[in-house]
Amino acid sequence: MDEIRIAGGTPLRGTVSIQGSKNAALPMMAAALLCRGVSVLRSCPGIADVFCMEKILQELGAFTWWDGDDLYMDCTLADKTEIPGRYTEKMRSSVILLGAMLGRNGRGRLGYPGGCVIGKRPVDLHLETLRRLGAEVFEEKCLIRASAKKLRAARIVFPRRSVGATEQGILAAVLAEGETCLENCAEEPEISWLCRYLRGMGAEITGEGSGRIRIRGVERLSGGDMKVPPDRIVAGTYICAGAATRGRIRLKNPPLEELTAFLEVYRKIGGQYKVKSGTLIADSTGVSVPADEVRTEVYPGFPTDLQSPLLAVLATIPGESRIRETIFEDRFKTVPELNRMGARITVKDGEALIRGGYPLTGCTVRARELRGGAALVVAALAAEGITTVEGYSFIERGYEQIGRDLRDLGGRVWR
Ligand code: EPZ
Repeated sequence: MDEIRIAGGTPLRGTVSIQGSKNAALPMMAAALLCRGVSVLRSCPGIADVFCMEKILQELGAFTWWDGDDLYMDCTLADKTEIPGRYTEKMRSSVILLGAMLGRNGRGRLGYPGGCVIGKRPVDLHLETLRRLGAEVFEEKCLIRASAKKLRAARIVFPRRSVGATEQGILAAVLAEGETCLENCAEEPEISWLCRYLRGMGAEITGEGSGRIRIRGVERLSGGDMKVPPDRIVAGTYICAGAATRGRIRLKNPPLEELTAFLEVYRKIGGQYKVKSGTLIADSTGVSVPADEVRTEVYPGFPTDLQSPLLAVLATIPGESRIRETIFEDRFKTVPELNRMGARITVKDGEALIRGGYPLTGCTVRARELRGGAALVVAALAAEGITTVEGYSFIERGYEQIGRDLRDLGGRVWR
């Protein structure tokens, strides 16, 4: 059954390890395509999006296999250049493979990456970046075709911060002739992890984590071999689960330095945390203060991916809280489901007003996208009675074992 069931009302207590980061692993898998050899991603999360990206690499001619949670990708023969629409509709982030296919073979073709419930999710910045690097890009009704005899370096100033478009530019530039300069880049940690992985493969990249990244093209790359960093959004989601239930949890390997903005809000609502020999202890017994205006921002601001899980926490805190979503135009999709559980959230002009403190009651709710689904799980842990969250397949796109993890934290969760 595509659902998860939760008996709420118990403060979470326990210890959990944080899985590898989805949003770091996916671009690193695209980078593997740039090498005619074997690349490895250690501690790679076994999540639906990674399995989808793995299938795409196989479609292109790669051989992949797992050894425990280490993913091996042999891209020696991965010279096909077409990704069928059934994959790009399912996972829009596959669009970054276009840059990698161009870098490797000088051409690429893929189904138009669909939008999703959180917004239209255009790819104009991706395509403009590839054009600036010398590719001819044709957009047809349901597919994109690109070709370039040889990609050439360029100076590109992104008109807006975009994680995916920055990754697209990096993946296309590492084998392009000359020195490319990307400005107004996204600064999300996933960009830095991609650059580190590529540098380990022999790419010449500097400036990641700042707004300006310089890339000097090289002839070829060797295989990558790196550990996928822990997932900052999964860590934040579990802290939200602890906060919603006023529990006290321990995260064994938290990406602490990537959670600053989130932990600032956690402290503001009454959460307390400390680090003891690498373990983060999040004590939510004092969570009781409504949050005035929280705004989602590009990194290092409050992450849009934790906006929905925070909604669920604020619904349990008496008083008025506000969250403004500034990254995606339609990312409050899970509000009606939260309200069906007893939350009192209204959304107007990109801002959610949460009148918190009303009791949440378990019922059957439906996830429509990944982080909205995670928010329903967080709310269910705080609700009285049993909640069935349908649409579990959305949640497993990004959470490897959310049921097991929450049981490790003392939650009563089952499939
Ligand atoms: C990445 O999506 C993440 N996905 C998202 O995580 C995350 O929410 C987002 O970055 C912001 O941090 C992956 O890394 C796989 P953007 P991405 O390009 O690259 C607009 C999750 O839950 N835009 O930074 O698609 C776009 O519509 C997912 O794990 C254009 O207008 O995000 C959005 O409004 C959800 N044109 C804004 O920019 C473009 O060509 C930021 O999007 C590209 C984007």
